[in-house]
Amino acid sequence: MRFCLNIDHVATLRNARGETQPDPVTFALMAEQFGVDGIVVHLREDRRHINERDVRLLRELITTKLDLEMAAVDEIINIACDVQPELATLVPEKRQELTTEGGINVIDNIKQVKHAVQRLHEAEIPVSLFIEPDINQIDAAAEINADFIEVHTGHYANAITEEDIFDELERVRIAAKHAKKLGLGVNAGHGLNYINMKEFIAVSEIDEVSIGHAVLARAMFVGIEQAVKEMIQIIRMAKR
Ligand code: PXP
Repeated sequence: MRFCLNIDHVATLRNARGETQPDPVTFALMAEQFGVDGIVVHLREDRRHINERDVRLLRELITTKLDLEMAAVDEIINIACDVQPELATLVPEKRQELTTEGGINVIDNIKQVKHAVQRLHEAEIPVSLFIEPDINQIDAAAEINADFIEVHTGHYANAITEEDIFDELERVRIAAKHAKKLGLGVNAGHGLNYINMKEFIAVSEIDEVSIGHAVLARAMFVGIEQAVKEMIQIIRMAKR
């Protein structure tokens, strides 16, 4: 299982004062040194955290891989085609939400999502669709030639009782197995943290996790190096 770090909220903190610190690009380069497998940023239409300059600088400077999260809209697709991330992850986007609230509904938005996948493929950018762990959504993702899905793990992360945690993990596992059978790569993310990752690593079908908030929050207390290395240590337990 690979670990990609979402650094959006370094930019949130920077933008809170409209100045230059903390710099998300420096943060990304340090996180790479401490072992992350990739950097994830969400270039939102409202530019509330990451901006276009950040994306272009990251493209130039990082040496792992860039996963650009984005809505399936022409303005951002144009930027992606120019920047050439190693992966474009299509997500739903609402102006009022605090964070991405759920997976993209591929079935209900098939024309728009298919068009986005085609345009990104024309620019030779692999595409991932952030979706719920739902068989019908996965089938739709395969039908429109997505390369990866990213399973939304928010329901797993929010589950409280042991029974709910088990059920949500099973949903993810079944979804991941189904996606693999269809030849899709399987990423996962949202709400994953140092506690719930300990069980999550048992889902061996997941190729990559995308984690942001928990690691950035921990870095505020213990520093980037320790925050990143602690998560890597948890993920490595899956290989034993
Ligand atoms: N994956 C996607 C598609 C997301 O939108 C987010 C949140 O920006 C994440 C992963 C990371 O979620 P978290 O910050 O809760 O780790």
